[in-house]
Amino acid sequence: MPTPPRALHPRLSELDIAITTPRLALREFRDEDVEAIWPWVSDPAFPRQMSWAAHVERGETLDYIRGTRTERAEGTGIVWAIEHEGRACGCIGLESIVWGRRAWRLDRGELGYWLAPPLWGQGLMTEAVQAVMRYGFEVVGLHKIRVGCLAENDGSRRVIEKAGFRFVGRLEEDVYRDGAWHAHLRYELIVADLDDVTSTRRFQRPITR
Ligand SMILES: CC(C)(COP(=O)(O)OP(=O)(O)OC[C@H]1O[C@@H](n2cnc3c(N)ncnc32)[C@H](O)[C@@H]1OP(=O)(O)O)[C@@H](O)C(=O)NCCC(=O)NCCS
Repeated sequence: MPTPPRALHPRLSELDIAITTPRLALREFRDEDVEAIWPWVSDPAFPRQMSWAAHVERGETLDYIRGTRTERAEGTGIVWAIEHEGRACGCIGLESIVWGRRAWRLDRGELGYWLAPPLWGQGLMTEAVQAVMRYGFEVVGLHKIRVGCLAENDGSRRVIEKAGFRFVGRLEEDVYRDGAWHAHLRYELIVADLDDVTSTRRFQRPITR
């Protein structure tokens, strides 16, 4: 039986967003996290696989952090700082949350994330994604979570696939950056998939090059 939409959806600003996983604490960003994330957000090479440009001044990072709180206050998204061993080292968000358009209920959000390079390859982002997926469906009450990555972003594609997202398509020449058009891979998961994410992995896999 498909799950019907909830009669009421929560005010994002009223949610307790703290999540603990075996190795991570996910929590709201604080102004003082600027120093911890500055080495990564200011590295010109770091955001190349994402939509944003490296920060030039710490003020931009502070504006970003404050913007994440505004997003939640306005009900359009939740962004968590990823804390490992007591220090902010990354970011994960359910953003562009929409509940409806005209006569349609949509109840969906878009997943995004990044992690400090020294921590890559230990399964940490997969751990964070699995926790946020569950939170998005069970606490926020979303019906669908969408996620995408550039076709050449092998690490992110693996995270998405390990978490069990269903591949829905490849968007050719979707965005332009660093002198070239890049394709996007798009994935989604609906709430009913959560019971058996292994079933979604049987779907057609993308052509990545
Ligand atoms: C993508 C990212 C979040 C992954 O974080 P992570 O904690 O290293 O992820 P995990 O360890 O959970 O999983 C990474 C998987 O990708 C694989 N991987 C990583 N880099 C790879 C590469 N260049 N080629 C092939 N596989 C790669 C790892 O081996 C691992 O798979 P495995 O468990 O099957 O071995 C991190 O690399 C990052 O922050 N990148 C920059 C920002 C970014 O691209 N964000 C996503 C935008 S869509």
